[in-house]
Amino acid sequence: MISLARCGEEDAGKVEELERLIFKPSEQYTMSFIAWLCRSCSRFSFIAYDDGRPVGYIISCVDAPGQGHVVAVGLLREYRGRGLGRQLMCASMCSLSNVERLVLEVRVSNEVAQSLYRSLGFHVADQLKSYYSDGEDAYYMVMEDEARRRALKACGCGEEGGLEGLGKGKDGGKEGSRVGSKEGRSWWRRGAREERGGEDEWEGEGDEGEGGVGRNI
Ligand SMILES: CC(C)(COP(=O)(O)OP(=O)(O)OC[C@H]1O[C@@H](n2cnc3c(N)ncnc32)[C@H](O)[C@@H]1OP(=O)(O)O)[C@@H](O)C(=O)NCCC(=O)NCCS
Repeated sequence: MISLARCGEEDAGKVEELERLIFKPSEQYTMSFIAWLCRSCSRFSFIAYDDGRPVGYIISCVDAPGQGHVVAVGLLREYRGRGLGRQLMCASMCSLSNVERLVLEVRVSNEVAQSLYRSLGFHVADQLKSYYSDGEDAYYMVMEDEARRRALKACGCGEEGGLEGLGKGKDGGKEGSRVGSKEGRSWWRRGAREERGGEDEWEGEGDEGEGGVGRNI
């Protein structure tokens, strides 16, 4: 049976393993960055389990006043196309129901993910040139105002049986930290390790292992 639970600091290893299974080596976040995300963004991040086995995850954060940022989402291949991606997005959106807008980046070639985001109410606000370490552009997608209200309703946020109270996890749903943004969205760039390393609020060790950088969501 599929269940979602909040992702905390102690779950960083599970997220790292999922990243390894879902994304190419050049597209994976470093373990230290994952640990930092899991620690700092626990309230807005979830792992999907199938009978206790981690099969997908979503990490989101508040990265600027009134702004939620979906940093990473992914599912093992055999769990895709069954509505679980939408469920993870809903969990993230419900946890971020107090922000004014949600933003994310997606590869221009990733039509499946774009289709999911559009169906939820995101629109393309910008195209970011060579955003990824392999040179591919990203679409910067935003959801706000009426589209966001509609999406929260469609997700059942805050309703009985909705997603609002799920998976409080070990932190009991405590306040997550707001994480810093360096000139806005570029802070999240996968492949921008120097930016992350230079970020005041980045506390990770910036490990230098092969393939530690290279993608955003
Ligand atoms: C992107 C991802 C998270 C979507 O999750 P998913 O569980 O497969 O998607 P869902 O089953 O919830 O489908 C939601 C919507 O996505 C779109 N979608 C899903 N599979 C699709 C496919 N094969 N082709 C086109 N659109 C598709 C549809 O719009 C669908 O809505 P619908 O069911 O009403 O038609 C998942 O495919 C994944 O993990 N991909 C690899 C990692 C990745 O690309 N992450 C995102 C980086 S930006």
